[in-house]
Amino acid sequence: MTAQKSAAIVLAAGLGTRMKSALPKVLHPVAGRAMVLHLLDRLDELSFDRKIVVTGRDAQEVTRAVAPVPTAIQDPPLGTAHAVLAARDEMAGFDGDVLILFGDTPLMTRKTLETMLDARRGPGNPAIVVLGFRPDDPGQYGRLVTGSDGALEAIVEWRDANPDQRNIPVCNAGIMAVDGKHLFELLDAVGNDNAKEEYYLTDIVAIARAGGLTCAVTEVADEREVMGVNARAELAIAEAVMQERLRDAAMANGATLTDPSTVYFNFDTVLGSDVTVGPNVVFGPGVTVGNNVEIRAFCHFEGADISDGAIIGPFARLRPGARIGIDAHIGNFVEIKAALIETGAKVNHLSYVGDARVGAGANVGAGTITCNYDGFFKSHTDIGAGAFIGSNTALVAPVSVGDGAIIGAGSVITTDVPANALAVERNDQKHLDGWAVEYRSRKSAEKNKKKG
Ligand code: UD1
Ligand code: MG
Repeated sequence: MTAQKSAAIVLAAGLGTRMKSALPKVLHPVAGRAMVLHLLDRLDELSFDRKIVVTGRDAQEVTRAVAPVPTAIQDPPLGTAHAVLAARDEMAGFDGDVLILFGDTPLMTRKTLETMLDARRGPGNPAIVVLGFRPDDPGQYGRLVTGSDGALEAIVEWRDANPDQRNIPVCNAGIMAVDGKHLFELLDAVGNDNAKEEYYLTDIVAIARAGGLTCAVTEVADEREVMGVNARAELAIAEAVMQERLRDAAMANGATLTDPSTVYFNFDTVLGSDVTVGPNVVFGPGVTVGNNVEIRAFCHFEGADISDGAIIGPFARLRPGARIGIDAHIGNFVEIKAALIETGAKVNHLSYVGDARVGAGANVGAGTITCNYDGFFKSHTDIGAGAFIGSNTALVAPVSVGDGAIIGAGSVITTDVPANALAVERNDQKHLDGWAVEYRSRKSAEKNKKKG
């Protein structure tokens, strides 16, 4: 970007009624991040001098979510021009280019924003650059009216357009780059004499032309990028597009996805190099994966940190606070929560390990449960390095198992086990010699008698 200053105004004061939700529209998540925050992330990549989010009825919730980006309030919402005017105070004394964006377009890319600003500063020094696109179905988008020289003359909203104008294939994506010198003067001249009786931002183009200023169009090739989310069905489409991008990025960065379309990422998922992800894996928020990790089919992760060389799954669930050490193995039907599994330790089958530490090289047998919750409080289980926990053991926390200790299968461990000890908690086994033979002959005699 050049040295010229730039500001961004994000409009998010619309009512979002079609979402049918108590949550403000722009806070609905795509890949685990609120739509408006995706947009602010892109803006952050370009270092704007000022950023303002215009919010309405949902001001409090949106303000909290976008902080420290300041908000301006537009209530009631009387149209997109009226919304930009709400940011007037925040923009006082600003001298530079102003990018106006819609908060419900989470798929916008940094490249498009850059192109818009470059065009604003480029040949012809247009006062306004509008982002145009050619959707397969232009529907009710505003149409871009150009003159014989290709310059932009006006934007006509669909409701106000005549049949010829409705045939124009190039539509308004809703994003504009405006020379800040003219912006508020142009907005002040906007009226509401139109089908919706709203103050249309789009009107500033014709007003600028009437005042002898130049306006231009920059077209974006992929219409999905400018897609506005107004209803849940569109939210699902945006999610699908975002997931596709995240999968492509993961593979481009050196991960193998066996069946990419079945892997779901969060916007913040971090994968190391040479990670293999099998089919049907879901990454929730806050997951970091090291190098050479193998994630087998059907795993679900959130808030987990997986170190180099670990093997996870199939069918493993890692919950917040799960930290899986180098070369550790977490196998099928194992749930780990708030637990540190140290280097090379194994929890391979049918276990719950929560609020715990499993020391390096320890082996946790099938069906081991850390009983971490008594209905009121959570307690910690500590398993030492090299310990061996026999199958079907219940570790009733708070409790510790010393380094190298062995727990006999089926034990309920309620007191601390010293290092290198054997702990077995179950009844002694007894044998009644010949009992089975005597039992069988007694029972078959009874049966024969009944048949009689
Ligand atoms: C707008 C454009 C249309 C364009 C389309 C692209 C206008 C007049 N029309 O129409 O040309 O093709 O977007 O998607 O600009 N908002 C406010 N305050 C308001 C009204 C809206 O903050 O008073 C915000 C909304 O939250 C939303 C954005 O502005 O983020 C766009 O509003 P919306 O009502 O969706 O405009 P469209 O009718 O889709
Ligand atoms: Mg819209």
